[in-house]
Amino acid sequence: MRLTADERAMLEGGYGPGTRKAMEVLVGLGRIYGARRMVAVSSVQVAGVSYDNLGEAGLQFLESLAVGGARARVLATLNPAGCDIANWQALGISQEFFDKQSQVLEAYSKMAVTITCSCTPYLFGNLPHFGEHVAWAESSAVAYANAVLGARTNREGGPSALAAALTGRTPCYGYHLEENRHPDVRVHVKARFPRQSGGAATHEFGALGQAIGQRLEMEGKKVPYVEGIESASLEELKAFCASLATYGGVALFHLPGITPEAGAYPLPEASLTLTRGEIDAILRQESQASRQEVDFLSLGCPHLSLREIAHLADLLRGKTVRREFWITTSRPVKRLADEMGFTEIIAASGAKFAVDTCCVVAPIRGRFKVMATDSAKACYYGYAKNGMHTLLLPIDELVVIATSSTS
Ligand code: F3S
Repeated sequence: MRLTADERAMLEGGYGPGTRKAMEVLVGLGRIYGARRMVAVSSVQVAGVSYDNLGEAGLQFLESLAVGGARARVLATLNPAGCDIANWQALGISQEFFDKQSQVLEAYSKMAVTITCSCTPYLFGNLPHFGEHVAWAESSAVAYANAVLGARTNREGGPSALAAALTGRTPCYGYHLEENRHPDVRVHVKARFPRQSGGAATHEFGALGQAIGQRLEMEGKKVPYVEGIESASLEELKAFCASLATYGGVALFHLPGITPEAGAYPLPEASLTLTRGEIDAILRQESQASRQEVDFLSLGCPHLSLREIAHLADLLRGKTVRREFWITTSRPVKRLADEMGFTEIIAASGAKFAVDTCCVVAPIRGRFKVMATDSAKACYYGYAKNGMHTLLLPIDELVVIATSSTS
C-alpha cells in the first residue's frame, strides 16, 4: 500500500505509540481488502462505547491508548453508551456499571473524542456533505451517511473507526470507490405507506427495511435500487437505514427522487418485487407477543429526532404512563426538547428519558419480558442480545399500551 510521508511517520511512531498502533490497524485492514492507499476522512463515528459490550479488556485497551498520548485528529463522535450519564439511577443502572462506563468515557475524552453518545450524529453537527469521505461504525448511521447524504464510508468496526479518528485516515476500498457504489439489484416495492398522525411511519419503514434486507440476504445482493417509495421523512429514512443494515447488512442503497446518487449509475438487470403482503406479514410476525405482558417500551432506535419527541409530547400530554417507558435520544436533541418544553410534558407522564444510551446497549438482560417498540432493529437485538420478546407497533399504539392498566 502506498503511504504518504505523513502516514509513514505515523506508522513509524513519529506521532507516538497510540497513533502508531492505530496506523498499524489501518494498514493491516487495507492489506486484507486490497486498498492501494489511504484516504483522509473528515469525521469519524466510533462504536464500542457501552461497557456492557466492551468489558474490562476493552476498557483497558482504551485506557492504554489514552495514556499513550493518542488524540483524535478529526471530528469524532461516539455511539450510545451503556447508560444515561446523568439519569442512570432512574433507569435502574447499578453504581458499579456507571463507574465503569464513566471510565470508558473518560478514556475517550482524553483522546479528544466528543462525548456525545448517539447513533444519530447527523442530527447534531457530525453531518458530512455529498462526496465527503468519513469513517463511521454504527450500521444505521453508515447507511444514512452513504445513501441519504451521499458521503463515503465503509461500515467500520470499533477498532478501525477509532484508528481512523486517531490518524484522520482510512484505507481506500469498498464504498470509498465510485465503482462499488452502483446498485446491484432493482427492488420494486408495490405498496403504499399510510401517513401517520405525527408524519412518520417508522414501524412501516422498519418492516420495509426488514423485508428488503431479508430478500437481499437470500439473493446475495448488497446495494439495492429501491423503486416505488414516493416520499420518506428523515425519521422514516433513519428507521429504514437501521432495518436494512440489521436484516440485510446493507450499507448503501438508492431511492430515486430521494437519495442523491440514485440517477448516477446504470440500473442492474437483477430485480425483485416486494408486495404489501410481505410487509404486512412482517408486521404480523413482529406483533405476536401479548400486549398485556408488555413490561417495557422503548422509543428511539435510532435515537429520536426533535420532531419525534414533539409528537410524543403531544401524545403523552396529561396522561400517566404505567409501564417502564424509555425515550432514547442524544443529549443535544434532549437539550432542545428541554428548551421547547417537551421534556417537562413527557417526564410528567412518567416516561423516562434515557439519553446517551438505548435499549440494546444498556445492561438490561433479564429485567424485562416483553418490549414494545416502533423499531424493527430494536426488535431484532432486543431478542438477540437482551432475550426479550418484542412487539413492533406504531408510536400512537405504543402510547396506548404504555398508559393502559397493567392488571
Ligand atoms: Fe442506535 Fe441502539 Fe438502535 S445504537 S440504532 S438505538 S440499537
